[in-house]
Amino acid sequence: MYKKYKLAIVGATGLVGRTVLKVLEEKNLPIDEYYFFSSYRSAGSKLNFMGKEYIVKELKEDSFDLGFDFAIFSAGSDTAKKYAPIASSKGCIVVDNSSAFRMDDDVPLVIPEVNPEDIYKNHGIIANPNCSTIQAVCVLKPLDDSYKIKRIVYSTYQAVSGAGMLGLKDLENGIKGKSPEKFPYPIFNNCLPHIDVFLGNGYTKEEEKMINETRKILHRPNLKVTATTVRVPVENCHSESINVEFEKDFNLSDLKDVLKSSPGIIVYDDIQNIKYPFATMVTGHDEVYVGRLRRDLSVECGINLWVVADNIRKGAATNAVQIVEKLLL
Ligand code: A2P
Repeated sequence: MYKKYKLAIVGATGLVGRTVLKVLEEKNLPIDEYYFFSSYRSAGSKLNFMGKEYIVKELKEDSFDLGFDFAIFSAGSDTAKKYAPIASSKGCIVVDNSSAFRMDDDVPLVIPEVNPEDIYKNHGIIANPNCSTIQAVCVLKPLDDSYKIKRIVYSTYQAVSGAGMLGLKDLENGIKGKSPEKFPYPIFNNCLPHIDVFLGNGYTKEEEKMINETRKILHRPNLKVTATTVRVPVENCHSESINVEFEKDFNLSDLKDVLKSSPGIIVYDDIQNIKYPFATMVTGHDEVYVGRLRRDLSVECGINLWVVADNIRKGAATNAVQIVEKLLL
C-alpha cells in the first residue's frame, strides 16, 4: 500500500525555517502532509506554501501526537533539547539545525554529499552541521580521500544572516548609524573576530564547532585543525580561506579535476579572466563554490582554497531537506 508521509517544520517562521519552505517547494518531495510550528509569538500567523495557506501552530509537548514521520527543526538549541527527544520517542525522525546534539555519539552529523551512510545509523535524531563546517567539509572530503589531509587552517568571513533576523537587522540599522542589538560592536564597517561565546581556551564556540565537527564528519578524530571565525558586514553567504596540508603530494590540475567531479561543488577559478567566487554571486545557490586554488609555497604538500556558499541554503535549509530526501528513498 502507498505510504503517506507527514513532515513537521519547527521554527517555520525564522530565517532558516522560511528557506526550508522554499527548498521544499523547489524539491517537491513525496510528502503528503506538512505542519508548521513556531513559538507562541508567531502562532496563528499564516504561511503560503505550495499554493496553499497554512496556519502556524504553537509548538507544544503534544504536537508530535499527530504522528509525524520526519521533522526539520530550526528553532535553536533550547527548543531542540526539549522537543526533539519527545518527537523521536513518538517515531518521528528529527533533522536538527541547532548545535544541541551534534557532538553526541549516538547522533549522526551529516552532509549528504560527504557521509550519507551515517544517516542510517540514527536513533531518531540526525544533526545538521554548522553552516561554516558544511561548506568547508564538502570541499575537503574528496581531497582527504585522494591525498589524506594532515592539517587544516580555517579563516572564515561569515555573513550576518548566520546570526538570524537580528543579525541582518544589526547590519541594516548600523548603516543608518544606529547601535547594535545582536553583536557586541557595530558590524557595519567592521570585521568582528567573535562568533558565538568565548571559551576558556581563548577560542570561540564557533571555532570549536568547526574543529570538532570537521573531525566527526570526516571520521578523523585526531585530525589537526585550527580556526579563526570572523563576522563581516555581508548580508548572506559565508566565505572561507582554507589552508590544507596533505600527506601525499598532488598535481594542481588533477586536484581541480577531483573537485570538479565531486558532488555539490563548482570550481570557479580563472584568475586570468578575474573569476573567483564571492558572496553576491553565490547567494541563492545550493552548490559550494571554490576558487583561488594555489599551492602553499611555504610547505611541501599544501594548498590554499577560497570557498563560498549560501549559509542559509546549503549551510542549513538545503542540507536538512537533502537528509529528509535521502530518508525517503
Ligand atoms: P517565533 O517566530 O514564534 O519566534 P530566527 O533564528 O530567525 O530568529 O528563527 C527562530 C525560529 O524558531 C522562529 O520560527 C521562532 O518562532 C522559533 N522558535 C523560537 N523559540 C521557539 C520555541 N520555544 N518553540 C517553538 N519555536 C520556537
